[in-house]
Amino acid sequence: MSDIRDKEVKIFSGNANRPLAEAIANYLGLPLGNMLVSRFPDGEIRVRCLENVRGRDVYIVQPTYAPAENLMELLIMIDALRRASAHTIGAVIPFFGYARQDRKTQSREPISAKLVSNLITVAGASRVIAIDLHAGQIQGFFDIPTDNLTAMLLLAGYFKEKKIDSPVVVAPDVGAVHRATEFAKQIPHSTQAIFVKRRLSPDEVETNRLIGDVGGKTVILVDDAIHTGGTIISAAKEVMRRGAKEVYACATHGIFAGDSLSKIESSPIKELVITDTVLKDRVLPDKIKVLSVAPLIGEAIKRISLHQSISALFEQKSEK
Ligand code: R5P
Repeated sequence: MSDIRDKEVKIFSGNANRPLAEAIANYLGLPLGNMLVSRFPDGEIRVRCLENVRGRDVYIVQPTYAPAENLMELLIMIDALRRASAHTIGAVIPFFGYARQDRKTQSREPISAKLVSNLITVAGASRVIAIDLHAGQIQGFFDIPTDNLTAMLLLAGYFKEKKIDSPVVVAPDVGAVHRATEFAKQIPHSTQAIFVKRRLSPDEVETNRLIGDVGGKTVILVDDAIHTGGTIISAAKEVMRRGAKEVYACATHGIFAGDSLSKIESSPIKELVITDTVLKDRVLPDKIKVLSVAPLIGEAIKRISLHQSISALFEQKSEK
């Protein structure tokens, strides 16, 4: 079988999550590409690719969480590589920001997920690799190949090892049901429950209506992202109030805005498991465990380069 190292693939990183980019390059047995991504004295982004990419298949690893500097770095890096005659440019966006406004729910709202998709395409990306997009339909906002990988098997694998007695997988809102179902398929003997969430403001949610039973069971809350922690904490408190034995939680993306980390620390959540799609300079409480998506992304890049199936990565048999 041919090797990715014969394929002249190059991996570059912006400043949003260099350790993840290094881990992906390491998985592939490649050095990280040499690119200057710094600032001009006035603060504007300065990019220069410091190696030849002519005719190569290149990938840029850059999650686009706030600040918007991360998105701008990605766009400018794509532009640099396009003008340097790269053959294809893969935008690897482990966390795709500006995704929550993916449709107009009220008048005079933007659809920022579509705007950002347009920007990335117009800049010159040939393909996108993302993980657990806030909504699956965002794939359709791109008219270039877009692989929406999922970390649900990775997260479920961690919980499967715990051999939890009477597990119930709970979606903290209706939007999380599909993800939670994929997760639950991997957890032997699990049942499912769903919260009906009402968002009162960006940092306030009401989660008190539950479809399903959690009494006497161990709850695993499953979500795509934790921003303020409002959703997951409110759901955790409510399942405990309804007689759950204990509550675990997991999410692909740990954004942790404001004082969410201290709120999580003092919440009933016994352990919260996230992945390394988002990197911030912060100390995580002991109850938060981080799993790496580097092998998942590395494997996807390898399969793209070798013209192999990516979906086969997720075709694991259900445990039920
Ligand atoms: C909402 O639709 C998402 O799936 C998450 O539940 C939400 O983004 C979490 O945000 P927060 O932590 O601020 O409640």
